Amino acid sequence: MRWSWFLLSLLAVAALAEDASPEEEDEEVVAEAGPCNPETCKLPDCRCSSTDIPGNLAPRNTPQFVMVTFDDAVNVINIETYREVLSGRRNKNNCPVGATFYVSHEYTNYALVNEIYNNGSEIALHSITHRTPDEWWQDATVEDMKREFADQLLIMQQFGNIPRDAISGLRMPFIQMSGNSHFQMMKETGLTYDCSWPTVSFINPGLWPYTLDYKSTQDCLVAPPCPTASIPGTWVVPMVTWRNLANPPAPCSFVDACPSAPGLNDEDGWFRFIVSNFERHYLGNRAPFGYFVHEGHLSSNPAVKRAFIRFLDMINNLHDVFMVNTKDVVEWVKNPVPVNEYIRQQCKFPRHAPCFPNTCGNLRRSDSEKEYWMTVCGSCPRTYPWVNNPLGR
Ligand SMILES: *[C@@H]1O[C@H](CO)[C@@H](O)[C@H](O)[C@H]1NC(C)=O
Ligand SMILES: [Zn+2]
Repeated sequence: MRWSWFLLSLLAVAALAEDASPEEEDEEVVAEAGPCNPETCKLPDCRCSSTDIPGNLAPRNTPQFVMVTFDDAVNVINIETYREVLSGRRNKNNCPVGATFYVSHEYTNYALVNEIYNNGSEIALHSITHRTPDEWWQDATVEDMKREFADQLLIMQQFGNIPRDAISGLRMPFIQMSGNSHFQMMKETGLTYDCSWPTVSFINPGLWPYTLDYKSTQDCLVAPPCPTASIPGTWVVPMVTWRNLANPPAPCSFVDACPSAPGLNDEDGWFRFIVSNFERHYLGNRAPFGYFVHEGHLSSNPAVKRAFIRFLDMINNLHDVFMVNTKDVVEWVKNPVPVNEYIRQQCKFPRHAPCFPNTCGNLRRSDSEKEYWMTVCGSCPRTYPWVNNPLGR
């Protein structure tokens, strides 16, 4: 009896000593998440990971959201495609459509970021460096994530004149998850949602966005490690994967990384392929449908681009389908209303942000011989903005 008590106290001392060791500190801030109980985890600020429709709506009363997202640098090479696809486009409720841009900093033109923002699309974060190898992101610490994302917020405000409160989301480069690190950074920085986590298992019915207050039941097959900590109020917008035409069908997180898709010259095949993936959502539990892609897939493949535009024309004519910014999907999930109420809401317009463009160069970063030209709103930085010197001072 006394012996075992002695052992126990030894263990307790060992545990205390471990708690105090400095290298552990980063991990110790967070508590492991416990199982989710829908009775205690309630909207608007908490939601268990689930395929249930928010607000217990019937599928036919649920708005079908479509999230079109583009990743990486925004510049004169790709802006023409964005203008062609998005300019003047409206949903059936006559509100302008939105797409979400996960912007990485290198080679980005901030006057064009400003144009995209002012036209009603969403500017979100995709890191300053987008560095390789992708394993770097897997092992990243909370501090690493602050240098890549919290500091990118400063770049967006300073050079794109994007209001701080307009930016709420991020996607990890290579959709490589970092365990808890980037979610912990989001909480400390005031970012609301992540859209980097594909689900292969929860596609029919599809997984709806949820918070990390409690343990997620989402599969982590694509790019582990996934978060295990309780990080209250932080939202996951799952990347519900598509199914390709292989037998058996295989999952794709990005439309442009989908082997065994129709031939790149086959416009009709691509249209049917897109619609068949869309219908799994629209005729199912109406979980938000993602068209996650990089601009090059459209500009390099005119037939695919035509099929994509046909698809957008089709959904923009459906009274219960809405192509909106990802942050607006999260807002709806927090406060779900049926379609007939949703279509009566006022359209969302951005608070206008002026831009007086300047092209700056040659700019260098301290760690590289590379030279850059960079177009910004307002005055030029002294050096090329980069990690540890986001304002290029
Ligand atoms: C933004 O709106 C302007 C004015 O309507 C239009 O000329 C431009 O093509 C739009 N840009 C994008 C990226 O949609
Ligand atoms: Zn990327």
